[in-house]
Order: sequence, then structure tokens, then C-alpha cells
Amino acid sequence: MSEVKRLNWINSMGISRLGASLTAREIRELVAAELSRVEQEIHLESVASVDAVTAISRHLQANGGKRLRPMLLLLVNRLFGETTDAAVRLGAVVEMIHAATLVHDDVIDEAETRRGKPSANVLWGNQICVLGGDWLYMQAFQMALRERNFAILDILISLTQMMVEGELIQLERIGRIHLTEADYMELVDRKTASLFSACARLGALVGGADDAQESLVADYAWNLGMAFQLVDDILDFTARESILGKPVGNDLREGKVTLPLIYALAEAAPAERELVATVLRDRSYDKVPLKRILEFMRRYDGIERARQRALAFTDKARSIIAGFPDSPYQRALYTVTDLIIERDH
Ligand code: IPE
Ligand code: IPE
Ligand code: MG
Ligand code: MG
Repeated sequence: MSEVKRLNWINSMGISRLGASLTAREIRELVAAELSRVEQEIHLESVASVDAVTAISRHLQANGGKRLRPMLLLLVNRLFGETTDAAVRLGAVVEMIHAATLVHDDVIDEAETRRGKPSANVLWGNQICVLGGDWLYMQAFQMALRERNFAILDILISLTQMMVEGELIQLERIGRIHLTEADYMELVDRKTASLFSACARLGALVGGADDAQESLVADYAWNLGMAFQLVDDILDFTARESILGKPVGNDLREGKVTLPLIYALAEAAPAERELVATVLRDRSYDKVPLKRILEFMRRYDGIERARQRALAFTDKARSIIAGFPDSPYQRALYTVTDLIIERDH
């Protein structure tokens, strides 16, 4: 679809290009009924015989989260016809897998905040959260198993292994300043893009898409996921904590060198590299305040270059989805690429 047609579509809903948040609402409306069924499903399926596990799950469900992954799965599903019940159930499955990764990730990263609230590890401690995360994974797999479809399990099991390996690789690299763009992209692929891609694949699969269509939407969503994580890593430097729901400058403090820094470091003088090295060593901004790191990145256009890279991913995603027949769902998937770039949390 041409840029002009896309703008017309947005304008026809009385929403200007600037009203991106309203557009997001409109897109969500397309699958709002299905999304609330996903919420019910998550609620019903998150009851364990041990209270702490139920409480962790409820805590995550009640405290926000964009539900982007089920939304993606449902929108893709609608490309191929009416919503299937399996798509709603799998929407719950992918959100629960996402929740499990967040619970474990916050233990690993010793995070204190998630979705603007104290993270589960702060409230229940690491031991309970490791087990709670395991329970959530297994519950999600049990739900997926009920579909009696090996292709679904295949997708979900490969995906989970990819993500866990990604977290392990990231751990190995913690505190390292010498990371290449390729190293970084591998992590983003594993941590984020693979789940986005699996969501689209599942939506297509249970929607009755053929193999070629399934591969195309998987590729679309993979590119969307890559852009999403790049933007996440940009927001880590540029956002306000109150909007982001987690502390700003967090990645570097956790020892993670992300794309804006990789770009800036490639051109940095030794004294500038030392600024970054100090934060990585101290795991704090006590000696080198975040402001100085931001100045350094600005000098080399780190943020802007990372943003351009994210745009290249969304361009690719758009070019793939543009090949699908026109429908409100196809247009939504097209427009979502802009919202990913322009999001503030
Ligand atoms: C957080 O994902 C983990 C990343 C891949 C950056 P989201 O930003 O989608 O988290 P919620 O679900 O909306 O909280
Ligand atoms: C998020 O990873 C968890 C996964 C995608 C597996 P990060 O550690 O980079 O993200 P935040 O900043 O905690 O959300
Ligand atoms: Mg983390
Ligand atoms: Mg992060």
C-alpha cells in the first residue's frame, strides 16, 4: 500500500499522523473482543495449587503490559479469515510465555521495577520467582498441548530454547565493551524477534494459512520484533522513567552495551571509551553520570543511527505485509510498524 493510501486510511478515522496513540487504540479495537477473551483465558489458567504462583501471575496480569504479542497473533490470524478459538487460546499461551521470561529475566537482571511496579523478584524473592516462572512456562505448554497439534509445539519449544540461549549468551557478555553490531543483532533476534515471529506463525497456522504465507508473516513479525527491541534499547536512554515503567539508563548499569552505544563506541576516543568502561565496571552512574554518557552518544549520533537501523527493519516489515490483500487487519499490521517506532513505552 502506498504511503498516501495509508495516510488516507488514518485520516479517514479522523486521526492525524500526530495522533499515533489514537491510531494504536483503533488498531487494538479491531481485536478488542478477542483480546478480552485472551485476558479471561490467562486469568482462568493462572491458578496454581500453590498461592505464590497464582499471586505472581496475577501481579503481572494486573499491572499493565501492552499485550503486543497476542495482538500480533490475533491480527495475523484475521488475515486468513474469522478468528479461531485456537488463536485466542494461543494468544494466552504467548502472553504467558512472555510473562515467564519477564519473571526470570528480572531475577537474572536483579531488576527492581517492571511495568511501573515493584518486580516479582522484589516482592517474592528469587527462589519463588524461578519456580513461578517455571510453572508459567509449563502451564503455557500444557495449554498449547491441548491443541493436539505438533506444529504448534514445535514452534513453541524451538522458540523457548532460542530465548533461553539468548539470555545465556547475554549473561556471558555482561560487562563487555567490545560488542559488534552482529553480536547485538544475534541477541535481539533471540530475545525478542523470535517470539514476535512465533506469534505471527501461530496466528497463521491456526488461521489455515499455507506454508508460504506462514513464512511471510513470520518474516514480517521478525522484522517488527527486531525494530521493537532496538526502540526499547533507544528508549532505555531517552525515555522518562514514569512513562517507561522501568529506570532509565538501566541497560548500561546492568552491564549491557546496546546498539546506540555500539555505534558511538566505534568512533569514540580512548577517554570516551573509558567513560563507558567505568559505568560497566562500577555498575553505577556514581562516577560517570548518565548525562555524560548521553552527551558522548549524541556526539556520534548513536541514538539517531540506531533509530535509522530500526526504521530499516520496519521498512522491510512493511514491504512484506504490503504484499497481502487489503483488509483492515492488513492495514493495521502495516500501521503498527510506525507505532513501534514512535512508541514511548
Ligand atoms: C518487554 O516487552 C521485554 C522486551 C522485549 C523489551 P514489552 O515492552 O512488550 O513488555 P510489556 O508486556 O508491554 O510489559
Ligand atoms: C527482556 O530482556 C526479556 C526478554 C526479552 C527475554 P531485557 O532484560 O533486555 O529487557 P527489560 O529491559 O528487562 O525489559
Ligand atoms: Mg531485564
Ligand atoms: Mg532492556
